[in-house]
Amino acid sequence: MSVTLKGRSLPSWLDYTGEEIRYLLDLSKKVKEESKAGKVFRRFTGKTLALLFEKRSTRTRCAFETAFGEEGGHPVFLSTADIQLGAKESIEDTARVLGRMFSAIQFRGFRQSTVEILAGYSGVPVYNGLTDQFHPTQVLADIMTLEESFGPAGGKKLCFVGDGRNNVARSLFVICSKMGVHFTVITPASLLPDQELVDRCSHWAAKSGAKIRITENPDGVEGADAVYTDVWASMGEEAKREERKALLGPYQVNQALMDKTGRKDSIFLHCLPAVKGEEVSADIIAGPQSRAWDQAENRKHTIKAIMLATLPPDGETPGSARE
Ligand code: CP
Ligand code: NVA
Repeated sequence: MSVTLKGRSLPSWLDYTGEEIRYLLDLSKKVKEESKAGKVFRRFTGKTLALLFEKRSTRTRCAFETAFGEEGGHPVFLSTADIQLGAKESIEDTARVLGRMFSAIQFRGFRQSTVEILAGYSGVPVYNGLTDQFHPTQVLADIMTLEESFGPAGGKKLCFVGDGRNNVARSLFVICSKMGVHFTVITPASLLPDQELVDRCSHWAAKSGAKIRITENPDGVEGADAVYTDVWASMGEEAKREERKALLGPYQVNQALMDKTGRKDSIFLHCLPAVKGEEVSADIIAGPQSRAWDQAENRKHTIKAIMLATLPPDGETPGSARE
């Protein structure tokens, strides 16, 4: 069966099949190989991309902007200091207007509903560059990075240690469940992922063969191919930082925790930015087990692959926007 993703948005991986995600991972690998071989293409010539940011970003913004621009596309960065988005103008109206001017839209911000409204009303592909709920482009790069160390992701064990209900943990939960990756969330009881997500992921895991485990015990990393962590207080949760430091102290990824895997070849993953001395010790992120910098690079290759796969062919005008 051939995979066609033309015109598709990426609000999260919830509505994507394992086969579609596999297609994007294979395309990402090809894009990276082309880049390493110094091949230059102009596959986004004549196309435009709106980059909407309510929250700060280094990797996501730079990955979208360079991946699109180096292939001849024209990215336009728009922070909420620049445009109306839900304040003086409704998100629906902004979507209608942007859909008439841009080939695609990326949104980073607070509400998942904003991505969904932009996708529903613009008529062009909309990519979620991080919301409070999900960070889908991140975890495609994470699975790519896992495969670079261990080959096909199915049957590998990935453990997320830390804030088990944040956007990165939730997105890993979904993509691992769909791709047959054994996924363990190691988190205190007060930071468990919500039951609705657990139920949905369990359903996909039953089909893909992924084993799902949720535990408060850091010993759960035993046998892990990859140990993953993220900041203890995400963007927008700064007021919770001290409370989280007290709660998550025992979950810091340091050498003692990495040793609990019982493997010398386990890798360490982090989406970045990292707060060294909190969720990860400085020696681990800089050490031989860390793949954090490969992950960051892979953001660009995977984001380029997502845009190549979803942007409509040349000559097709945007504009099945809802009026
Ligand atoms: N990992 C990630 O999304 O990084 P930025 O916040 O810098 O985009
Ligand atoms: N959970 C983090 C991810 C940053 C890429 C946050 O939302 O701030």
